[in-house]
Amino acid sequence: MNSLEPMSTPELTLELEAFLHCPTPAPWLDWALQNQTLMLIDHANCEKKAASNAMGLMYRHVAHTDLLTKMSQLAREELLHFEQVVTLMAERGITYERIGPSRYAAGLRDHMRTDKREQALTDSLIVGAIVEARSCERFARLAPLLDAKLGKFYLSLLRSEARHYRDYLTLAAQYTGEDINPRVQHFLAVEKWLIESEDEEFRFHSGVPRKI
Ligand SMILES: [Fe+2]
Ligand SMILES: [Fe+2]
Repeated sequence: MNSLEPMSTPELTLELEAFLHCPTPAPWLDWALQNQTLMLIDHANCEKKAASNAMGLMYRHVAHTDLLTKMSQLAREELLHFEQVVTLMAERGITYERIGPSRYAAGLRDHMRTDKREQALTDSLIVGAIVEARSCERFARLAPLLDAKLGKFYLSLLRSEARHYRDYLTLAAQYTGEDINPRVQHFLAVEKWLIESEDEEFRFHSGVPRKI
């Protein structure tokens, strides 16, 4: 497929399923439907964090022009998504409260190499791609289960989040002197464990609910 051609939702879903090592488990979807207020608050946090993560890369790697332009565009899009979520929350009378993050991002970050600058960049970009891919996969799975307005909003996010996932992978390959696939597969295996194991609290990227 020509990369400039827009992809349909089923095509996007197939691409994400082929990339990720596991689909979102059904118990997480049930958990999300029962916790939609928390889901939206954490979704707002995720958009804000995605923008700030992109800006962090822009501060740390000022000599990489392609990275600067792609991350700048990404940060602007994430902040637009943030504004959209906050507006939707206000329409629904949801108070935006401060909540802590899930173990997901920290669980991936624990595996990042930090000694060498270029290795740290490669791992940051790979983790960025995986987080975007999982978010996109969850938006696609949730959309048909939600009310019409929220479902439509989540479908509207798919295309940009899928582009973000591809941009991160492209940049990782571009700025890395090594084959990125072993690192991608390593992080995907860690991510599968984080997604399929039990979690205490519901978040957008949490695992499955702990069985009582
Ligand atoms: Fe986003
Ligand atoms: Fe994104």
